[in-house]
Amino acid sequence: MIDSDISLSTTIPAPAGKMVHIETWGCQMNAADSERMLALLAAQSYQLAADAESADLVLLNTCHIREKAKHKVLSRLGVLKEIKERRPGMTIAVAGCVAQAEGSRLLKAAPQIDVLLGPGKIDELPRLLREHDASGKRAQAIGFHRHAPDSAPGPEMAPVIAPPTLTGKHEVSRYVNIQQGCNNYCTFCVVPFTRGRELSRPAAEILAESAALVAAGARELTLLGQNVNSYGSDLSTKPSFASLLRSVAALPGLERLRFTTSNPHDFTAELAELFATQPRLGRYLHLPVQSGSDSMLLRMQRKVTVASYLERIDWLRRAVPDIALSTDLIVGFPGETDAEFADTMRLVEQVRFGFAFMFKYSPRKNTPAARYANQVDEKVKEDRLAQLMRLQDRITAEIHAAEVGLVRPVLFHYESSKNPGQYYGRTDHFRLVRVTSDTPLTGQVHQVRISSGNKVGLIGELVN
Ligand code: SAH
Ligand code: F3S
Repeated sequence: MIDSDISLSTTIPAPAGKMVHIETWGCQMNAADSERMLALLAAQSYQLAADAESADLVLLNTCHIREKAKHKVLSRLGVLKEIKERRPGMTIAVAGCVAQAEGSRLLKAAPQIDVLLGPGKIDELPRLLREHDASGKRAQAIGFHRHAPDSAPGPEMAPVIAPPTLTGKHEVSRYVNIQQGCNNYCTFCVVPFTRGRELSRPAAEILAESAALVAAGARELTLLGQNVNSYGSDLSTKPSFASLLRSVAALPGLERLRFTTSNPHDFTAELAELFATQPRLGRYLHLPVQSGSDSMLLRMQRKVTVASYLERIDWLRRAVPDIALSTDLIVGFPGETDAEFADTMRLVEQVRFGFAFMFKYSPRKNTPAARYANQVDEKVKEDRLAQLMRLQDRITAEIHAAEVGLVRPVLFHYESSKNPGQYYGRTDHFRLVRVTSDTPLTGQVHQVRISSGNKVGLIGELVN
């Protein structure tokens, strides 16, 4: 699940010492990588700067999934260049998928960059900074790990926990990376090129990090990978994803366990049944479909048909009849006809996703679809995206309206900083709920009666 239109920037004032400012674009994987980099920097006595202007180190963790995401990074680099001209001692580091994909081209185009590191090399950040500080020269590390993952895990995936005070994040819901890269090569997607082949993290490490996060106050964990269902197939003991889920779900003190992203191709009936037997998994799953047309799915190389996708939803609904689902959809993939787009609209009507991430197809270098001849006109893409969003907004609003009057357990994640006393949490269907309360709710589960809902979320009151 990706939302590269959201850019998170973390700024917290801190006392003397080296100061870092980090900006994160893109998916949860990037958010988790940023937390990891901050944890590594904390071990080097870095503290968070109030903003980029006052930082010794500005770190951009970038996204390459669509062209627009890349452009945002380039324009931000332009602003940082001006700041650096005023403050020559400042170090600019670029991490993430743009660093990996653009590499030397980016260094050439942006002389203000001092350190460049790909998503497979984030643990080398402290070393690169030391090298740059000592020599004044640019330092870079891109590429992927090639070691057998369970023979010698190496420091790169060892548990490192960033304290929430450092990340500026809310500690109730935390990410745990379980797998890097992707082997699927969907024809539109740049991820296998920017994040490399699938590499599973040993289960013992995942459990240790999960336990440490729960001990530090997390009540909800989300296990992260590009294709979590195939977790473990590259490890010698071949642990299944289902067995990993069972072990993490058994951690005392954990309230909810979620995971993303499930590729429907590898989603099994065993996993669907887990939702019935493991209440901590909640009643929600993100299952990206991309298109409702078999011919499109074939050209996207998604390895599922509409019928096999619907079969998986059937398994899930048999396990948990009211399970909430979300998805990713692409409009304007090369060659998409009006009829094929209409199939996507029909699928959305039929499944009634709780919400969806919807994108215009964006051609990415190295991917097969970028070379397909029949690219769809930009205007047609825009029209289709607008139609699809209207439809999904209506369905989301209807689903939320149907919640009014119901009582739902809500895990509260945080208190609004703008409006103290307003607490935000999620139902086990992953629906966002706002409640006003005089007593603190963060980290607690309460029964909430839903009083209203719109296409964004729900408002409710505590049930005494
Ligand atoms: N494994 C992740 C994929 C990460 S990419 C997952 O299955 O969610 C996240 C989403 O971005 C994809 O599901 C797809 O809908 C969208 N996406 C990927 N490449 C794209 C492209 N070239 N143009 C438009 N959207 C794209
Ligand atoms: Fe991308 Fe397909 Fe993998 S969408 S991340 S290549 S499953």
